[in-house]
Amino acid sequence: THQWRGIIEEYRDRLPVTDTTPVVTLREGGTPLVPAQVLSERTGCEVHLKVEGANPTGSFKDRGMTMAITRAKEEGAQAVICASTGNTSASAAAYAVRAGMVCAVLVPQGKIALGKMGQALVYGSKILQVDGNFDDCLNLARSLSENYPVALVNSVNPYRIEGQKTASFEIVDALGDAPDIHVLPVGNAGNITAYWKGYKEYAADAMAGHTPRMWGFQASGSAPIVRGEVVKDPSTIATAIRIGNPASWTQAIAARDESGGFIDEVTDREILRAYRLLASQEGVFVEPASAASVAGLLKAAEQGKVDPGQKIVCTVTGNGLKDPDWAVAGAPQPVTVPVDAAAAAERLGLA
Ligand code: F0G
Repeated sequence: THQWRGIIEEYRDRLPVTDTTPVVTLREGGTPLVPAQVLSERTGCEVHLKVEGANPTGSFKDRGMTMAITRAKEEGAQAVICASTGNTSASAAAYAVRAGMVCAVLVPQGKIALGKMGQALVYGSKILQVDGNFDDCLNLARSLSENYPVALVNSVNPYRIEGQKTASFEIVDALGDAPDIHVLPVGNAGNITAYWKGYKEYAADAMAGHTPRMWGFQASGSAPIVRGEVVKDPSTIATAIRIGNPASWTQAIAARDESGGFIDEVTDREILRAYRLLASQEGVFVEPASAASVAGLLKAAEQGKVDPGQKIVCTVTGNGLKDPDWAVAGAPQPVTVPVDAAAAAERLGLA
């Protein structure tokens, strides 16, 4: 058959597995790289969207989780734990089911999207809402994994980064070379670290002729890397990236500097504008945090930082269905009509 086999089987020789490793997979990866017509016109560039919301649990986290849970299983772990703004926990919970493991989840109380909470619940994980933010949750998860028999599957787990780097391989495989610029939202900074590792590895093995410049965007109220200091009380409507002290801070700076890129911030207003543009003009429905990459590209273009004619990939990290409140908010309520073709035609402007 020709079904995509998941990132471990597709990129086995580039990942830390052996012939006897028990692969835990939901056939993640192999996501669409979609040409973005309106963004290309606006920037004068060739812009593509790497649509990571098409993964089995609706976000890029599945790439890292197949690898982390596979290795946890190989090492005999019976339980895993993570801190999360919602997507990591959804993914960990699903892969734990596949592996027959218990999954414990720590989320910031009241600050994760409903769809993500639903996922953690329906997959049967043990959820605790912590009276604190994501950074507090991660400290707690770290301490529990050090003192109790439970494996940490946050992106401080190096296998997570190994799995997530495969998105870069897919992009180069699809385009024939690396793009000139790669744009990502940045929260805990694991993903920008992983993409940069993937691009470097492919270039080192002559699978790509060059590496891209890495452009990362944080939400203005949660932009510790941009500010150069921990944000004690991070805020943004993009709850997925509401993080004040990123675990992979140093690696994100390295990706930025080694690639000749930059890390900047976008406001919630800019995020929501890009969120609506992606859905209404490109046909790609993402969650707000994902739109930070596109908001950043548009901001950079307005600032004259985008030379025309370049190849640009924006990763959109999570599915819009995870957090539909923002799609409904501010949109007009649909009108109700009787079962009557003439009335319906009139309201639709067809008559
Ligand atoms: N986009 C989405 C949809 C995310 O869920 C995250 C992170 C990011 C972007 C940022 O990626 O952390 O690697 O820089 N979500 C984590 C979670 C924190 O718990 O699901 P990053």
